[in-house]
Amino acid sequence: MNTADVAALRSPAGRALLDALAGTTAQDPVALAARLRREGHDPALAALATTQSRLRAKAAAKFGDRAAGLLFTAAGAEQATRAVVAREHARRFAAAGVSRVADLGCGVGADSLAFLDAGLAVLPVDADPVTAAVAEHNLGVPVRCEDLTAGVVAELGAGDGAWFDPARRTAGGRRVFDPEATSPPLSFVLATAARVPATGAKLAPGLPHDLVPAGTEAQWTSVDGEVVECALWCGPLAVPGTGRSARVVRGGAAFALDDTDLPVAEVGAVGGFLHEPDGAVIRAGLVARVAADLGGRLVDETIAYVTTDAPATSEFVRSFRVLDVLPFGLKSLRAHLRSLDVGALTVKKRGTAVDPDHLRKQLALKGSRPATIVLTRVAGKQSVLVVDPVS
Ligand SMILES: C[S@@+](CC[C@H](N)C(=O)[O-])C[C@H]1O[C@@H](n2cnc3c(N)ncnc32)[C@H](O)[C@@H]1O
Repeated sequence: MNTADVAALRSPAGRALLDALAGTTAQDPVALAARLRREGHDPALAALATTQSRLRAKAAAKFGDRAAGLLFTAAGAEQATRAVVAREHARRFAAAGVSRVADLGCGVGADSLAFLDAGLAVLPVDADPVTAAVAEHNLGVPVRCEDLTAGVVAELGAGDGAWFDPARRTAGGRRVFDPEATSPPLSFVLATAARVPATGAKLAPGLPHDLVPAGTEAQWTSVDGEVVECALWCGPLAVPGTGRSARVVRGGAAFALDDTDLPVAEVGAVGGFLHEPDGAVIRAGLVARVAADLGGRLVDETIAYVTTDAPATSEFVRSFRVLDVLPFGLKSLRAHLRSLDVGALTVKKRGTAVDPDHLRKQLALKGSRPATIVLTRVAGKQSVLVVDPVS
């Protein structure tokens, strides 16, 4: 797609075609193309609109019904922030009294849409001309097509905030993990924060804790069990006294906890219940907080499983009733599971190199009942816990 294609999609003919394609993504693409040809649509525009209609259908998972009125590039849809997460970004800026947010590397504009929804003005910038044209359609405001490192930050003043969502792929599409290899790099974000106090950035969930500068808050967010980002909040955007926090979004509801007065986790014997902390809690290093809140302890000082004697649960864990605890051994495990008539086996693991698929093959279970096992270390020893999910 090029900028002329974006203009064609935004033309009256393009819009009419996109409207006509709404709800057709389940149709056979060959039959659909033939129908559009028969109806006399320009083949090039029809191809563009069909691709766009498929991108909209896919993007509905992040944008909801709103996706039906937006334009996307394939990469832009993939990199876009989910609406439920972008709303929290916007809330931080609004709560800090920011009136305009410079969205530096705005992509297709998911974060800026949330900023606008929150009543904030935006200054969206993207170096890629097609992405900028798409964002302009989506946002209904001018998008500056330029390199964000070239000088726009110097134009920001009182009342302005800066938001970054650095690109984490090379031009060739390879994923980068080093925060200095993203575009822009973390050092540029931090240099901006020194000039524009209300600076925030969406970084990869693997951000090492030692890269979180003093006085800033790093917040790990998960959506329905998937860790989607580590947002760095500087200056007035950070919660005072908080260095690390976790935000868990489940079924649209959000729950948060942070490292204020973080306790040291106890370690002890496996009790009647096992709790698997959410990935955002683990990434944020807050397992000890969850263990204390549940009145529990770790099964091993290096493993993020919490155990309690009594039933307990929270939004930050998935909980299981512990049925058996066995030392790890193929023969004894096979005998145990066969005695329980187990067939379908769910394997969860932490702190072990065992490959679940390989283990399932080795166990060759043919029984009629489902079961769940947890492979982990308990007090330093490789162990198997037979568990049952607590609904
Ligand atoms: C991860 S995407 C942003 C996604 C956006 N937050 C959203 O939710 O839709 C990063 C964007 O930054 C842009 N970008 C990367 N380096 C840039 C630079 N030096 N100047 C301007 N834009 C840049 C890329 O073109 C890409 O569109």
